[in-house]
Amino acid sequence: MKKYYLLSFLGIVLLGVFLACSDEEEVPPGTETVVPGTDHNILIAYFSEPIPDGVDANSSASRVVVDGELYGSVEYMAAVIGEATGGDMARIRTAQSYPGNYDDLAAQADEERQSDARPELSTVIENFDDYDVVFVGYPIWWYQMPMAMYTFFDTYDFAGKTIVPFSSHGGSGWSGTLGVITELEPDATLVTGRSVSRGGVAESEEGILQWLQDIGIVE
Ligand SMILES: Cc1cc2nc3c(=O)[nH]c(=O)nc-3n(C[C@H](O)[C@H](O)[C@H](O)COP(=O)(O)O)c2cc1C
Repeated sequence: MKKYYLLSFLGIVLLGVFLACSDEEEVPPGTETVVPGTDHNILIAYFSEPIPDGVDANSSASRVVVDGELYGSVEYMAAVIGEATGGDMARIRTAQSYPGNYDDLAAQADEERQSDARPELSTVIENFDDYDVVFVGYPIWWYQMPMAMYTFFDTYDFAGKTIVPFSSHGGSGWSGTLGVITELEPDATLVTGRSVSRGGVAESEEGILQWLQDIGIVE
């Protein structure tokens, strides 16, 4: 079982290396390069489930230590964005926690993907309507967003809001997730996002800050 998931994972990563590596390639039509409007109320909503330690060679790579602090990859990106923009933070958590080892996590994620599941969320964002710009962060799981992200998009009304996506992956880039977001939220405006390979997350701060300037959300 463990071997199966390890091999599948390696397969994904290798294919990803072939397919990737331009995170810019998959920009859906209508994507804005700059966040429209001024005087924003910003929310940074993100899902991050670092691969637990001590399981295999992949495990440590999903955890990032910066200045002595331990983060998940997406969690770290969210922290940089939060610090720079002053936006409110919301970590998207599921009611049922995920398994504490890689094989079981991979198996559950695969099962959820295949059954098109909508895992229940424990995170509730009471004042979601107050925000006009929502940074949405997620890791790539089995070539797509974790299914909890689908629950998230189902739960909240993004009509009229600006979505700024950010993501971390193990080699497969956005994996078509930007197109999925535009399908799920046709009445929102999508702005150019930021995708970082997990191996580069610990050194990603400068690039993230540059991107935030490029999209006009910080000076
Ligand atoms: C269940 C699972 C499936 C994954 N599937 C992919 C994948 O299809 N493509 C990819 O590039 N990386 C994949 N990864 C790697 C994660 O996207 C990567 O480690 C990411 O940095 C994790 O972010 P986090 O630590 O914030 O959760 C997968 C990781 C897990 C745990």
